[in-house]
Amino acid sequence: MATTTEQERQTQGSAEVSQDKFLEGLNVDLAHEYAAVISYRTYASQVQGQWRMELRQFFESEIPDELGHAALLADKIVALGGTPTTQPAPVKPARDSREMLRNSLEDEIETIDRYVLRRKQAEALGHYGLAVEFDDLIRDESTHRDEINMILKRWDTG
Ligand SMILES: [Fe+2]
Ligand SMILES: [Fe+2]
Repeated sequence: MATTTEQERQTQGSAEVSQDKFLEGLNVDLAHEYAAVISYRTYASQVQGQWRMELRQFFESEIPDELGHAALLADKIVALGGTPTTQPAPVKPARDSREMLRNSLEDEIETIDRYVLRRKQAEALGHYGLAVEFDDLIRDESTHRDEINMILKRWDTG
């Protein structure tokens, strides 16, 4: 079974992990990248209101990044002898644009947490190249988080 984010949080601090558990973790990451692609695509289509055009473009602009992350993770899982999952993590439904943004922000923050842990685990296992790849992923997701934060910050006052 794939480990959950909550379980992984509890192990934070100790990056020691077996190769099998590490591969399970990478598949959790991959499932969430696929979910991010579906979620941003769905939100881009569903978003309504006066900022539809801006938000639609914004959600769409995230998709290539998340798909790139999925490609990297799937490649690395195979390179390490694993099988990439084909099941996305659950996608959160949203009633309005604000909930779309809040869900997205929550997901980006959780993803950063997982990648910080995964980076430590990669290093502990001696996968130094992969550890460096996680720097890029952490940078990308941090940018996504900051952009969404900026949109939400002035939501009420414009
Ligand atoms: Fe991503
Ligand atoms: Fe992201």
